[in-house]
Amino acid sequence: MRVAVVGQGYVGLTGAVALALQGHGVTGVEQDHSRLRTLNSGEAPVFEPGLPQQLAAALATGRLRFADGLAECHRRAPFDIVLITVGTPPQSDGSADLSQVTSVLEQIGNLLPVPRVVLKSTVPPGTSSRLADAHPWLRERYAYNPEFLNQGSALEDWAVPARVIAGTWSRENTLALRELYAGVSGPWVSTTPTSAEMIKYASNAFLAMKISFSNEIAQMCSGPDIDVDHVMQGVGYDPRIGHAFLQPGLGYGDSCLPKDTAALAHWASSVGMSAPLLRATIAVNDAQTGVALQILRTELGAALREATIAVLGVRYEPWSDDLRAAPSLAVVPAILAEAADVRVWDPATDAATIAGLFPSANPVAELPDAVDGAHAVVLLTEWPQAIEAHWPTLAARLVAPRLLIDGKNCLPPELMAGLPIHYRSIGTRMPTTTVTAEPQLEA
Ligand SMILES: NC(=O)c1ccc[n+]([C@@H]2O[C@H](COP(=O)([O-])OP(=O)(O)OC[C@H]3O[C@@H](n4cnc5c(N)ncnc54)[C@H](O)[C@@H]3O)[C@@H](O)[C@H]2O)c1
Repeated sequence: MRVAVVGQGYVGLTGAVALALQGHGVTGVEQDHSRLRTLNSGEAPVFEPGLPQQLAAALATGRLRFADGLAECHRRAPFDIVLITVGTPPQSDGSADLSQVTSVLEQIGNLLPVPRVVLKSTVPPGTSSRLADAHPWLRERYAYNPEFLNQGSALEDWAVPARVIAGTWSRENTLALRELYAGVSGPWVSTTPTSAEMIKYASNAFLAMKISFSNEIAQMCSGPDIDVDHVMQGVGYDPRIGHAFLQPGLGYGDSCLPKDTAALAHWASSVGMSAPLLRATIAVNDAQTGVALQILRTELGAALREATIAVLGVRYEPWSDDLRAAPSLAVVPAILAEAADVRVWDPATDAATIAGLFPSANPVAELPDAVDGAHAVVLLTEWPQAIEAHWPTLAARLVAPRLLIDGKNCLPPELMAGLPIHYRSIGTRMPTTTVTAEPQLEA
């Protein structure tokens, strides 16, 4: 098939590369000229493990190219399908901004012959119907096919998705989607576009709820005789629950969960529903980003005003460079407002980016320099460089009260227990042996 993928961000570029490797002729359309230049030089403008190699492989097939618009390419050789993978960012009231999607649809409506359209961007329930009311040509040639990839495993998630959701108004369009995804293995759910839209939001709301639930339980896991890691392990072994996203921390913060929960809550209000569980999920998450500051206030008291705090990590996860909605964006300014000196270290974020995000913070290139003479450390990203660092040496560089707040519960509690520091995690972590999946028989 001849395919265009409009929007070459995390979703669009992954899709364009994967579809070209599947055998389709693909044009990745990108309006941002600096991003387009990077793509045309054979480089990936976003960080995703394996993407540079797969991009090179796709370009080598001769089936992938990039362009800044649809019209000229379509005039030369019409596309069978146009995938829309543009952003749907949050607006100030929480609702999804659909302007990028509507602008692409206007462009597609002017193409002759009009191709089939597959919308992959995340949009609120009822959006496809409204778009089809505004563009009557769309109903005959449309599928809503939400994307579920995770940054960090995007290519794998595309090749072996947990499910493919095909929201269409006709069997013909479902079959066209099947042809597009020939070779992609995963269960299919064929449904209406509105159901497909709700599947995407409901999935992200559930994942967000699991994280907020973990954080609420973690608050209850405090004291000398309780271990939050063991509690989460024990709960997660129930196959009805599972371990994924049962992870306490300083709040969810990938590019999707905050905006999608806010957009679903906004949508629920617009149809007269209160959605209390969803709102509680968001409220618990909002409060969770304040936990690090609360601990600093409790442990340092008035001395916080004079204190030097080292923040380790800006990214939400080491394997994604997507800083949209990372908890650091809320946590660091809150600490900056109360502490004398805030140093920020992140091995994959350059000093200029850190200075742009947090103008009054001090970017520090080396981890030992960041903690040298600091009163407290706040760890926000599970960087291997931080986890595997020689903590006895780092601890010796701290000054009293030598507080270490592990916002990702990722440092080994056994090691922390032996150091001359005050280790605080999200819920109590005990320096005991880890739980195994094997049944333990008493001798
Ligand atoms: N990032 C993820 O992990 C992820 C996962 C699942 C679903 N989604 C959803 O997929 C959609 C895309 O997400 P993303 O993270 O890839 O977005 P992104 O913001 O990284 O990329 C969107 C790209 O579209 C380009 N664009 C916008 N309008 C355009 C136009 N008219 N013509 C050409 N290019 C245009 C932008 O310049 C940008 O490069 C969103 O709705 C998001 O919620 C994202």
